[in-house]
Amino acid sequence: MKGLLLAVAGLTAAFLSSASAADKLDPSCSGCHALVKPTDTSLDRLLTRKGPDLWFAGSEFNKDWLVSWLQDPKPIHPAGYPYFKTIKKGEKNDVPDPSKITPHPKLNKADAEAAAEALMNLKAPADLVPAGAFKGDMKGARMGALAFVKFRGCVACHQGENGQGGLSGPELTDAGTRLQPDFIAAYITDPQRFDPHIWMPTSNLKDLDIQRLTAFLVQLGQGDK
Ligand code: HEC
Ligand code: HEC
Repeated sequence: MKGLLLAVAGLTAAFLSSASAADKLDPSCSGCHALVKPTDTSLDRLLTRKGPDLWFAGSEFNKDWLVSWLQDPKPIHPAGYPYFKTIKKGEKNDVPDPSKITPHPKLNKADAEAAAEALMNLKAPADLVPAGAFKGDMKGARMGALAFVKFRGCVACHQGENGQGGLSGPELTDAGTRLQPDFIAAYITDPQRFDPHIWMPTSNLKDLDIQRLTAFLVQLGQGDK
């Protein structure tokens, strides 16, 4: 009984800490970003949201990247967000229409540091982004590069090495500085666990492939900084 009460108290504390972490962010952030897990998981919610979900930001991003990006936000979704609202017909392919891409709000250093601190407290549940999902073997990076570009077709939607690739997904050119390795592995394994309607396909990859792709992405952007 006592154990149960303690467990309930623990859960409540965990809930309160993520709710108060969200409270520490400027109220404007929640106008465009889900800071707590949405109860509405409809396709409509996904299509009308104004920015990517941040309720698992603390398991997704590297804190140093957050601090610098929030002060100088460069596009991550190269065609704007969501891309289908900013794309127009080009001569050969669809191209982004820059006039429809609004720049992200810019924060000063102190506000960026406070926001990054609060975002890092928005952790994903342990079963969504398991610690150790990426086993840390970097030797698979070269095979991962081939999988990304050739065998698994990731490049159709994502810019990878040298900024080459599709525009409908977030750029992964600096994935290693932006994203946590365990998040990358967990996301590739099953993107629909993060949102049931997200339009990245679940490719039913074998763990070896997931490890190789993650190793490839983890080293992107690490060398030149
Ligand atoms: C007017 C809507 C809007 C507001 C207000 C806003 N954001 Fe954003 N945010 C976006 C959009 C759109 C993107 C995607 C930008 C891109 O891809 O380049 C984004 C991206 C981000 C990202 C990167 C997300 C990712 O998945 O890569 C972070 C972190 C972020 N915002 C934090 C914040 C914080 C903190 C605040 C409050 C200070 C805030 N945003 C306010 C619309 C907004
Ligand atoms: C049909 C297009 C498509 C394909 C193919 C695709 N993705 Fe994605 N991917 C997306 C979209 C869209 C998102 C972002 C979802 C969102 O906005 O929250 C995403 C998100 C990601 C993320 C998380 C990025 C972040 O900023 O949080 C990673 C990592 C990723 N994809 C890797 C891959 C890998 C590796 C492959 C190949 C096995 C792949 N993707 C294939 C569309 C695609």
